[in-house]
Amino acid sequence: MNRPPPVDTAHHPHLSGVFAPQRDEVDVRGLRVDGVLPDDLHGTYLRNGPNPRFDPIGTYVYPLDGDAMVHRIDLGDDGLRYTNRFVRTPCVVAEERAGRALWAGITDPYLPPAEEVGPDLAGTMRELPDINVIRHAGSLFALAESAPPYTLGSDLETLARDTFDGALPVGITAHPKVDPATGEMVVFCYVFEAPYLTWAVIAADGTVTREPTPVDGADRPLMIHDMALTSRYAVLVLAPLVFDPSALFSGGSPLTWHPDSGTRIALIPRDGGPVRWHTTDTFWMWHTANAFDRDDGAVVLDYVEWTYPGGFAEVDEPNRSTLQRAVITDAGVTRTPSADGAMEFPRIDDRAVTGRHRTVATIGRSGTADLVAGDADALRWFDVDNGAETTWRAPELSVGEPCFLPSSSGGAGYWGTFATDRADLTSRFVILPADDPGAGPVAQIHVPLRVPAGLHGTWIPRT
Ligand SMILES: [Fe+2]
Repeated sequence: MNRPPPVDTAHHPHLSGVFAPQRDEVDVRGLRVDGVLPDDLHGTYLRNGPNPRFDPIGTYVYPLDGDAMVHRIDLGDDGLRYTNRFVRTPCVVAEERAGRALWAGITDPYLPPAEEVGPDLAGTMRELPDINVIRHAGSLFALAESAPPYTLGSDLETLARDTFDGALPVGITAHPKVDPATGEMVVFCYVFEAPYLTWAVIAADGTVTREPTPVDGADRPLMIHDMALTSRYAVLVLAPLVFDPSALFSGGSPLTWHPDSGTRIALIPRDGGPVRWHTTDTFWMWHTANAFDRDDGAVVLDYVEWTYPGGFAEVDEPNRSTLQRAVITDAGVTRTPSADGAMEFPRIDDRAVTGRHRTVATIGRSGTADLVAGDADALRWFDVDNGAETTWRAPELSVGEPCFLPSSSGGAGYWGTFATDRADLTSRFVILPADDPGAGPVAQIHVPLRVPAGLHGTWIPRT
């Protein structure tokens, strides 16, 4: 098979403008600030995202393709610091040696031969730990979609591909959930062959206390991007986006949407009991906000619901997004919209994971700018108790996923994210007060280089 041609980066919406890859790596102290930095905010914000090391060849499917770059804003006692680094997988190292892209996009069947990448990497898929970044048990993980994460060092240097001493050889989701009460990290992993779906638990000290356990009742390979966690259950939403890797070699899509199949919700008891399944009308979900157990035994799940997976389904109807509440009981699933309009990347104060949350924050659209898929120019907040909505519109900016930044002194806290000016492509880290986020940032920390738009971040408080 011949090496595929370069992707037209100049005309690709996710390889140009605010999404254009950043190839420089810096470590800069003493950042300029507009506004006033809160004196009760101490910690580090990290964000991962797709960022191809070299201009791609073959295909480029956002947000799945691309190498990983992790960006860090440190609000330390000795001042502000910004650092960014590529995650150097063996694929990235091989490409840096060659000085060009060697692997094609994931929907392109081409794999580089041994004469290009050596016998160990020949025929392997590109690794993509570019979705999320989290810290658990003292390790910092760059996470991919159902693949082993890479650990990063204190200077964001790449340390190792981590299979947790071989206990999780196939990998974990990019969206694990940590129970604040127990410190346990619960994960899932989907694979193309039976048992198709497993779950596992990594304790607060990093040991795997539940090795990959099949989710009984999973009967085909589905793409599942996120999960939720209650005190009693791991909650998985199985929408009918079905993998068929063999289709790649006949020129087809490896993912097919089956809208007549219904969407299934699995409640997986954390104590190892039998899985409870429910089937609902078909919908698609990228991301959960949170779930919790109600006193009457019901499980409540808040998430952003889509009509279908845009970009992965050819459906001739508008693709609506709604903030949805699913109440799951023995009698079935009741889904009620809490709010609608453009939204994605729902986040809560992570200290409330497994418990009752009050506020869900998402990205949104001001309605004034013509944005490509995945971009946003507003942040939205929803009070799920009283239905109140707040929006911060910033049509001149591309804004990323909101992340809750707790106050170190018991205050209301803040929301933070990277934002990039569409006109001059400068980036900043914006900090908005959680008790009045619609008022806009109290501080903007200027970043010395452009942070490409897109994907997930985390806040690590200073302890
Ligand atoms: Fe995600």
